[in-house]
Amino acid sequence: MSRITVIVDGVSYTDEVEPRTLLVHYLRETVGKTGTVVGCDTSNCGACTVHLDGTSVKSCNVLAVQADGHEVTTIEGLAQNGELHPVQKAFHECHALQCGYCTPGMIMQACDVLKNNPDPSEQEIREGLEGNLCRCTGYHNIVKAVQQAAGELSSQAVSS
Ligand code: FES
Ligand code: FES
Repeated sequence: MSRITVIVDGVSYTDEVEPRTLLVHYLRETVGKTGTVVGCDTSNCGACTVHLDGTSVKSCNVLAVQADGHEVTTIEGLAQNGELHPVQKAFHECHALQCGYCTPGMIMQACDVLKNNPDPSEQEIREGLEGNLCRCTGYHNIVKAVQQAAGELSSQAVSS
């Protein structure tokens, strides 16, 4: 077993894990962050996407021991003071989900896309989300939501 200390959604956790434990399983089963989900066993779907030190990763593709000493943000850490993150709000308002299974990963990836490119074109949004699969929506409203969130985030940046 290996001892790891990871900050998850702003809280520090120290746990013993097997070296083979995947970050997604650590988050769900040890830390209890079940908002992060597993949608495949081939690293294809992106449902498990979280931020590791601010950058999106597929948490089924990272070992828990690799997160030792690092900071993880999950979908459960995005809202602040009871207020949904602008990307969460936009997904809600644009009906960018049906079953919702892909949504946590999709939102975490969308945040990363917008962090790196605050004013993306539709094509850039589609490319930025290409590692995240949705089996329900046809992607149209997801792209609309990311466009809406981009507008909201840039107006927040101007007013702050
Ligand atoms: S569960 Fe991680 S990519 Fe599908
Ligand atoms: S909303 Fe069902 S998989 Fe995306």
